[in-house]
Amino acid sequence: MVQVKNICCIGAGYVGGPTCTVIAQMCPEVTVTVVDINEERIRAWNSDQLPIYEPGLQDVVDFCRGKNLFFSTNINEAIKKADIIFISVNTPTKTFGMGKGRAADLKYVEACARQIADVADGYKIVVEKSTVPVRAAEIIRRIFKTSTKPNLSFQVLSNPEFLAEGTAIENLKNPDRILIGGDETPAGQNAIAALSEVYEHWVPKSKIITTNTWSSELSKLAANAFLAQRISSINSISALCEVTGADVGEVAHAIGTDQRIGRPFLQASIGFGGSCFQKDILNLIYICETLSLHEVALYWQQVLDINEYQRRRFASRIVNCLFNTVADKKIALLGFAFKKDTGDTRESSSIYVCKYLMDEGAHLAVYDPKVKKEQIIRDLSHPAISGDNPERVSELVTITSEPYAACENTHALVICTEWDLFKDLDYERIYGKMLKPAFIFDGRRVLDNLHKRLQQIGFQVETIGKKVNPVSSLVYRAASKPACQEQDPTPAKKVKI
Ligand code: UDX
Ligand code: ADP
Repeated sequence: MVQVKNICCIGAGYVGGPTCTVIAQMCPEVTVTVVDINEERIRAWNSDQLPIYEPGLQDVVDFCRGKNLFFSTNINEAIKKADIIFISVNTPTKTFGMGKGRAADLKYVEACARQIADVADGYKIVVEKSTVPVRAAEIIRRIFKTSTKPNLSFQVLSNPEFLAEGTAIENLKNPDRILIGGDETPAGQNAIAALSEVYEHWVPKSKIITTNTWSSELSKLAANAFLAQRISSINSISALCEVTGADVGEVAHAIGTDQRIGRPFLQASIGFGGSCFQKDILNLIYICETLSLHEVALYWQQVLDINEYQRRRFASRIVNCLFNTVADKKIALLGFAFKKDTGDTRESSSIYVCKYLMDEGAHLAVYDPKVKKEQIIRDLSHPAISGDNPERVSELVTITSEPYAACENTHALVICTEWDLFKDLDYERIYGKMLKPAFIFDGRRVLDNLHKRLQQIGFQVETIGKKVNPVSSLVYRAASKPACQEQDPTPAKKVKI
């Protein structure tokens, strides 16, 4: 079995960067080199301003960088030296051609495989870390097989990453499991053993699952589909709660205590975001369609449809509650990242909530503690969001560097990301600066424990999956609108506004 002394990781992104940083910390005798074609990204990895925000990451990078952890743009040299090469490049959804909008675009993976075949010599273990469609390893294998180099031999493994952003370091140090898929031949099993030994530096062997390559690739897609499905399930129930008087938080707690169901991933929200869930389910749907498994494809499509419904439903609720129009009204939007503790905005539901409100002519003041202004502008100016009118972003959106400024002179405050700091804001101060009636729309239920206090201050509070303010709905219904989708028969005389 090969003695692993050098690891190369191609792709210094959200997966490759943190994963290899932790491997370097846990395997001090192994030299780990993370390479990328993006020079700016590599420069950032070599500075004090890492290109991604991840709690705990800076400390581990500081500990290992320059000792056994290196960030470089010299991809060829790193490939030549490596015993194991991780491919951690992006696999976005295709934007054109066959499978457009659904299939994963493997051009970056293919480019890596070709580069490895070109420059490598001797024996290499090549590991797919990026999420890929089932049987993607076959593409890599076929590229290697076409190499005419007599002394090049390789094994291709699948070793999907299950880290979640915001908790990546913790997930990497204490994984639920490590999954390694490979060829069932003795050579394949040897390669699995070599990679397994790297993880065994800190992960108990009982947590290392080995399978064939295809099971490993499919497990990654299936895991993300199952997680996303739970969120869509609870979000569909949240819609029902809002019209029945049930509280989705109580329902989630009640069902989550059933061990067969379990508690995680039952937090109702404005819909899931992030680089994985939507992309992987689209990919799963595409695979099923191409294999004529139409019923299976339709089943998973519903998970995405509910997610889209939830985003749109939340935005509609804002419009309905603000007397059916937000045109020229100012709204503060707190939180732009797809979840707390990350600066990542990929597929963030905030982007879609902004889009729907901009479509209605609202002026938005956006605040996020970790997302850069340029990123917010870039996301909102994307043709899928702004159509052929990106100028409207500069007309309608301002970005603030602190939350209080965002709330000034607004009709409503909308919480889109569950940042902890939003629980501790001075809401009396905020109320004083807002137009009245002042609304709070809590898309993340971060203010669940504060509803009474906020109402005492004077806020109209609306939250996902619960009727906080049943009296207000009656007023809207009198205008024959299904305002906030509420049906409460509370007498109109109790209405304060
Ligand atoms: C996910 C998977 O969890 C991880 O295993 C995989 O490797 C990559 O994809 P990530 O996208 O980083 O990780 O974050 P995750 O914590 O899964 O959250 C995804 C989205 O779902 C976020 O927008 C989050 O806010 C939302 N979410 C999560 C909910 O709305 N409710 C929940 O109960 C949990
Ligand atoms: P992920 O979330 O999957 O880590 P990212 O987009 O954050 O995705 O990171 C992928 C990284 O892979 C990017 O920094 C990109 O520049 C890099 N990359 C893509 N193709 C190649 C390639 N052929 N060689 C080296 N790096 C690449």
